[in-house]
Amino acid sequence: MIRSVIAGCGGYLPARIVHNDELAAKVDTSDEWIVERTGIRQRHVAADGEMTSDLARVAAERALADAGATADEIDLIVLATATPDQTFPATAARVQAQLGIRRGAAFDIQAVCTGFIYALAIADNFIKAGQSRAALVIGAETFSRILDWEDRTTCVLFGDGAGAVVLRAAEGQGRNTDRGVLSTHLHADGRQHDLLYVDGGPSSTQTTGHLRMLGKEVFRHAVVNLAAVVGEALKANDLTAADIDWLVPHQANKRILDGTARKLGLSPEKIVVTVDRHGNTSAASVPLALAEAKADGRIRPGQLLLLEAMGGGFTWGSALVRL
Ligand code: COA
Repeated sequence: MIRSVIAGCGGYLPARIVHNDELAAKVDTSDEWIVERTGIRQRHVAADGEMTSDLARVAAERALADAGATADEIDLIVLATATPDQTFPATAARVQAQLGIRRGAAFDIQAVCTGFIYALAIADNFIKAGQSRAALVIGAETFSRILDWEDRTTCVLFGDGAGAVVLRAAEGQGRNTDRGVLSTHLHADGRQHDLLYVDGGPSSTQTTGHLRMLGKEVFRHAVVNLAAVVGEALKANDLTAADIDWLVPHQANKRILDGTARKLGLSPEKIVVTVDRHGNTSAASVPLALAEAKADGRIRPGQLLLLEAMGGGFTWGSALVRL
């Protein structure tokens, strides 16, 4: 059977770093509160005029270089974002043009913080169906543009960034020892809309709007849903948590990561953590964590990775990948 193998990873973070103390000078918060409740110490914020497509392009270029691939090999770009440059055209199309790619499909998908998992599942299915041979899967966000910087309950949590992977079609045996994406599981429950949303949009208010969240409620759902979707991935592949080399989770809150690991009985050393330095970069967080851990040699070829995320919608999902 055809498998989608991760041939390369890349990440990009804007240059400007905002530490907790800088936020504490603007809203009623403190470094101590933010670190204790979230594990976040700093986040990156895009410069004026630096757009989601700019972040995505650099991450994509780095993923292509890591894969030893050229842009003309790519026949599909799936870009996950909740903060596109414009309502249309798709940010993926802009990135396609910037990379000099002249063929294939390019489109955005929107599943907020679960976006990269959704995008990976879509690209994997294109490859397995024979409709793509080499895909760029990107998660890119500029959440700084949709934050209410006077709302201390949300503005301390998020950051900007982008991550990307190159997927290549390869022959597999149909076993869990194959390299590539072994499974993806996606979920949505639109009844939870009001717990995490943006209070604007082209069809509702004709404004961009700001992120609104009932954090405590989101937290509760996150731990339950993530443990369930991770369990689903393990069961479908006849594996146990002990078989996993690395959990590469969406980076929302250190306490959510710890809670999920505890539920799975997974040791904390097996979890890739970036939330302390990146904050929550929404759809970018999983590919950024992947790129960082691959670049520093923690994640190695042949290892089994479990990716998971949860976000507005609600949406949530997991992907089991052998690098
Ligand atoms: N600084 C200081 N105090 C703050 C604060 C901040 N930045 N944000 C909230 N508080 C206050 C609250 O106003 C509240 O005060 P009160 O008791 O006087 O009303 C108190 O801290 C506790 O707030 P609460 O919301 O109960 O805290 P919490 O322990 O649930 O932590 C979050 C808040 C947001 C960190 C946590 O709920 C969370 O991480 N939720 C999940 C969010 C998430 O991951 N979203 C994205 C999913 S993709």
